[in-house]
Amino acid sequence: MTEIERAVALLKAGELVGIPTETVYGLGADAANPAAVAKIFAAKGRPADHPLIVHLPGAGHLERWARDIPALAWELAEDFWPGPLTLILKRAPGVPDAVTGGQDTVGLRVPGHPLALELLRAFAAAGGSGGIAAPSANRFGRISPTTAAHVREELGDAVALVLDGGPCAVGIESTIVDLSSGSPKLLRPGHISPQRIEAACGLLPQAPDGGVPRASGTLEAHYAPRTPMRMVGSERLLDFLNAQRHSGRRCGVLSHSQPPQAVSGTQQPYVWKMLPAAPDGYAHELYAVLRELDHAGVDLIVVEEIPDAADWAAVADRLRRAVRGAGA
Ligand code: TXA
Ligand code: MG
Repeated sequence: MTEIERAVALLKAGELVGIPTETVYGLGADAANPAAVAKIFAAKGRPADHPLIVHLPGAGHLERWARDIPALAWELAEDFWPGPLTLILKRAPGVPDAVTGGQDTVGLRVPGHPLALELLRAFAAAGGSGGIAAPSANRFGRISPTTAAHVREELGDAVALVLDGGPCAVGIESTIVDLSSGSPKLLRPGHISPQRIEAACGLLPQAPDGGVPRASGTLEAHYAPRTPMRMVGSERLLDFLNAQRHSGRRCGVLSHSQPPQAVSGTQQPYVWKMLPAAPDGYAHELYAVLRELDHAGVDLIVVEEIPDAADWAAVADRLRRAVRGAGA
């Protein structure tokens, strides 16, 4: 039996499978099986009214899961699938409440990772529903996993099999665009920017107007390490770190512009991580590096402020939430 065949058999038996995608690893279950979906919430420790994204082998499967699909959805699917874009559409009859959190909408995406696509196609071909419900494979509120080892570290025995597809290329969760009512709304920024969506379809997704967050990714505290975190401007970074050192606090540093500070004759006083100074490269490594710093035994994670620019928006969103939720 190949790993894919094992994964298909587990999904059909109502078990959970760790799945690589191009964004982050997912914790997958048969989206048509409410008992299997319930295991996702138990494994993650996630509140049961938070909706999940259903992953599909192709846009040809959309009508099994969504109804009243607007032309815009087909256009975006054509341009960005397989890829890191999730569309929120009105749900088709028969989509379990367990998946949608009881809402009248459903999140759908065709992931761009070859192993995820192979699994989705094999699952559909073997008579499965063709839909795999999968949130990020982390404990609720924690950092999303970007390697198979992270998934095992987060969830241990709760997941029967983790398919290893290597490190995730994008590294942060998909862009979420809500097409379920009138004009497109950006629920979560990601690798696919609103500007690219506008270029593809002529409409710029807008921020949703206030309201109660429906997506756990939109709760303020999320993607967070256990170690406290703070952001410090580039020009203040070294002074800030010196002050921390003098008051006996050990810092982990996440910098994109300044190399580690060597202090001659003493042990390197900081755990210093350099990330690429461009947003895609930074996003690709961000969660793995946060995870490392969280395990480094430091008292504080200091993040050098990133540029205040549109192409950094998705990274800025994840960092802001990580800082809010850190230390809990
Ligand atoms: O990149 C991704 O999207 C990854 C990979 C595994 O595909 N998945 C992911 O899932 O990030 P999760 O559950 O961690 O985040 C999905 C977000 C949640 O914030 C959820 O509330 C939101 O999508 N969502 C799902 N269905 C929704 C719906 N019907 N309406 C509004 N938000 C929805
Ligand atoms: Mg998540």
